[in-house]
Amino acid sequence: MFFSTTDSSGRILAGNKVFTAVSGFAHRELIGQPHNLIRHPGMPRAAFAVLWTNLRNGKPFNGYVKNMAKDGSYYWVFASIKTLRDGTHLSVRFKPTSAEYERDIAPLYASALAAENEAISGGASERTACDAGIGILNAALSSSGYANYDEFSEAALTREMLSRDRNLSDRKLALFPERLASGASDEENRSYLWLISRYSHACKLFRALARVEQLSKSLQTEAGSVIALAEEFRVAALNTHIASSKLGRSGACISAIATFLTSYATDMTHDTDEMRRHLREIANSARTINASVAMARLELEMLLYFKAEIATDQTKGEDDLLPQLEEAFEASTSTAEEAVSALAAALPPVATSRDLLAQSAVSIQMAQVRGLTEAARVKEASGMITMFEEFRGKTRKARQEIETISDVLGDFAAILGPMGKCVSELATTVRH
Ligand SMILES: Cc1cc2nc3c(=O)[nH]c(=O)nc-3n(C[C@H](O)[C@H](O)[C@H](O)COP(=O)(O)O)c2cc1C
Repeated sequence: MFFSTTDSSGRILAGNKVFTAVSGFAHRELIGQPHNLIRHPGMPRAAFAVLWTNLRNGKPFNGYVKNMAKDGSYYWVFASIKTLRDGTHLSVRFKPTSAEYERDIAPLYASALAAENEAISGGASERTACDAGIGILNAALSSSGYANYDEFSEAALTREMLSRDRNLSDRKLALFPERLASGASDEENRSYLWLISRYSHACKLFRALARVEQLSKSLQTEAGSVIALAEEFRVAALNTHIASSKLGRSGACISAIATFLTSYATDMTHDTDEMRRHLREIANSARTINASVAMARLELEMLLYFKAEIATDQTKGEDDLLPQLEEAFEASTSTAEEAVSALAAALPPVATSRDLLAQSAVSIQMAQVRGLTEAARVKEASGMITMFEEFRGKTRKARQEIETISDVLGDFAAILGPMGKCVSELATTVRH
């Protein structure tokens, strides 16, 4: 695990020992140089374009990077990069090991690079070539079910960290020693041990968050079925309306029922639109919580690892990098705290939409029963019996699905309190 910092234009300001060792350059050969010193020619422009666009927009970047060491050999990293308060950037990296990485990333980058190079040989500008690469990346991500690069990279961050956890535990390896090297003071050791205890808290929280992701997904799926049903109601109500208008005077009552059905179905569509909006907020907040807790854990890990590294090497002057790692960790935990609040705020509106939908479903069911009676009574309307029966099946299904949404919302509300508490506790770690 290693890190480096750069100025706002990507010139290397500092890095830890492992960064220097892996790159094969001497410390003095790296400092002050642009980070593209270790750029591998196999990297597509598109990946760096996404990196810089994210940083410019105040967002972190998480992603795979292939680097070239001084001797020409390559090494892959998963990099988690963010901007600090003073405008410098911090990149924390580790070795990717997931099966998805092994299978997908090198071929994906190769095809993005090929598209870029083809554009360049066709006379296109660097910018157009880069867009061609971005097009390839986006197409691949969307065919794997990701809405955008951020969604992919956040999932990849979690996946890589879990994969590394498995590797370390299979090989019974620890990332950092249990105590600092013998030269460290008692005070340094105390603070180190405290951070280790907080780190295990961060790991537990990180693993528990899989449940948030799961709940967010099942909420989207369940609500998706209700949303689809609301649309079916709207179409069915419209058909009933058209059929009843052909009945003339004898169908006046059925026509009135059809009008009610249409109006309830319209209410349902409106409520599902509202629900959809809040569901998007929930999905985004759940992703942000996961990604920022994962980043916080990584930064805390880097902090611990670096503390152990400085203590071992007795390197002077490098402890001034500690506040930067601490700041990065604090920023991640406060992003997680904000996302927990945003998620908590989005749950009640979904519950409100669910209640309104349930009311509309009951009203539709009542109108349907009346419609069925009328269709059986009026001879000319017998053809509409099946239409009203269809409503019966759909309302039953809608009510069941609304019930499931309630269950998921209940589960969400139940974990949100303890989870928020854990995130807030984690946020106080380095201020201790
Ligand atoms: C914090 C930070 C870390 C970076 N780390 C790397 C890296 O490890 N390898 C790399 O090729 N580029 C890295 N970059 C991106 C480079 O600055 C640069 O955009 C990239 O190498 C492409 O350079 P070029 O288009 O000038 O060839 C990093 C940028 C930042 C801000």
